[in-house]
Amino acid sequence: MTSQGEVPPKESAASSPRPQGRFIRFAVYFAILVVVGVVGFAAFAWRPSIAEGPTPTAASFSPVLIEQGARLAASGFCASCHSVAGGKPFAGGYAMKSGFGTIYSTNISPDRETGIGAWTEEAFRRAMHEGVARDGSHLFPAFPYDHFTKLSDSDIHALYAYMMTRTPVSQRDHPNEMIFPFGIRSLQAGWKLLFFRAGRFVPDTQESPLWNRGAYVAEGLSHCSACHTPRGPLGEELKNRLYQGAVVDGWFAPALTAANPSPMPWTTDELQRYLTTGISKYHGTAAGPMATVSRELADVPPEDQRALVAYIESLSSGDSRTAEVNPVVATALKSDAQDHTRIREAGGRLFVSACASCHYNRAPDVNPERPDLGLNTAIFLDDPRNLIHVILDGISAKDGAPGIVMPGFARGMTNEDVALVASYLRATRTDKAPWPDLAKQVAQIRAEEQGAKP
Ligand code: HEC
Ligand code: HEC
Ligand code: HEC
Repeated sequence: MTSQGEVPPKESAASSPRPQGRFIRFAVYFAILVVVGVVGFAAFAWRPSIAEGPTPTAASFSPVLIEQGARLAASGFCASCHSVAGGKPFAGGYAMKSGFGTIYSTNISPDRETGIGAWTEEAFRRAMHEGVARDGSHLFPAFPYDHFTKLSDSDIHALYAYMMTRTPVSQRDHPNEMIFPFGIRSLQAGWKLLFFRAGRFVPDTQESPLWNRGAYVAEGLSHCSACHTPRGPLGEELKNRLYQGAVVDGWFAPALTAANPSPMPWTTDELQRYLTTGISKYHGTAAGPMATVSRELADVPPEDQRALVAYIESLSSGDSRTAEVNPVVATALKSDAQDHTRIREAGGRLFVSACASCHYNRAPDVNPERPDLGLNTAIFLDDPRNLIHVILDGISAKDGAPGIVMPGFARGMTNEDVALVASYLRATRTDKAPWPDLAKQVAQIRAEEQGAKP
């Protein structure tokens, strides 16, 4: 035979291929896998667009239905998120910052070109229940559809009637400023796969109808846990730490469970006043992002307010601790009663000169218009930021009790001064560990606030 006979037979070539051949084959398999993966994910992520429809006329809805929608919109804070200060209602443009970039709320007024005027009720319902826009694109969970998915079809119907009868505003949506790749809408399908379960509210048959109504309002409509529950690395609410407190918009939304650090229990009475008027006798004022919430809750029908209060009370069983109220008040009043002329430390002297003229209370009880700092959650939280915000900015006339203000000390106090007063209150009003690095945190919050101002 010729030298060809020395060429290894084909079979053995297959059993010990050249490394290059093996690589090509691997590359081909890998490419097929990627294509199948991408096509599969695209098919999974794809949602059809829903055709435009005529904008319904006001006459097509009963006034009662529109009024019901208005109350639901108040409980769902639609206006707070979909309007900006000085802007037209529901025209969007409200900026929501996160670690993934800035998302701007959209125009949900019934303008056909720039708002949702061309959305049918089916498209609106799908957005609320599944977080999908009319054109089939996935919405970001900055829009709390993970809560609105719990809403009944009849409530969605009322909300649709309300939204479609607002004044149309022509205003283009502000483009989002997201960090790559978080701005890719189809990737939201992956987020949904991991963290989102669509489905209506399921009542707990062990609980009363009042409690269940409150759970529906809190979980479905008012999405209290969106601020009060810590979030994981992808922005998902950690369901095993529901209502255990979280940072939101530079503030700390305290735990609403038994882990709430105020010595004063959150009883039905306290919650009722705090949530619906923004000021409670013992816990003080709803400030920061919570001020907006309590202003909106003031417009919620009384029966829904009561239900919400009953549900929130159950998170910490505040009513079972009413026996603690008087002793806790007595302890707080003792701090207020001390002789100011004997206070020597720098923080204490600052407190006497800057704060004590307003923040004093006398036995037998506290004055609701002068929050007792020995009861206020801000002094007891592990995170000092709420107290720092209040000292720097005060409480404006539109928050808390009508007509009552607390001046801000941003101009009058240095970072060290603010840190001294905060440390003094922490040391004299609580048994908690001192806050570390306070002056640095004050400087940081000051810088953030200045950056936030236009
Ligand atoms: C916490 C803030 C927040 C609240 C509260 C909120 N929204 Fe939104 N909403 C958003 C953001 C942000 C978007 C845009 C999401 C995106 O671009 O993916 C949005 C989008 C929408 C969309 C889709 C519109 C579009 O142009 O694609 C609808 C519809 C909507 N919201 C209705 C409502 C209604 C009704 C309520 C009250 C029941 C409400 N929203 C409450 C933040 C909010
Ligand atoms: C936009 C974010 C946000 C939403 C939504 C929100 N909260 Fe809050 N909440 C806060 C912040 C921030 C504070 C701290 C305010 C302060 O220090 O004055 C707070 C404070 C509170 C407090 C007082 C806690 C304490 O110990 O001082 C209660 C009670 C409360 N919220 C209940 C609710 C309920 C009930 C809902 C739903 C109806 C709700 N919150 C929705 C952000 C929010
Ligand atoms: C001119 C009177 C006045 C002075 C001075 C003053 N406060 Fe206040 N403070 C108030 C009032 C009034 C409220 C309640 C506001 C409301 O409910 O509208 C308040 C509320 C507070 C709260 C409660 C906020 C909440 O979320 O519940 C804290 C904390 C506080 N003040 C700390 C201080 C400290 C610290 C100082 C000194 C650096 C100080 N205040 C100086 C009047 C004052």
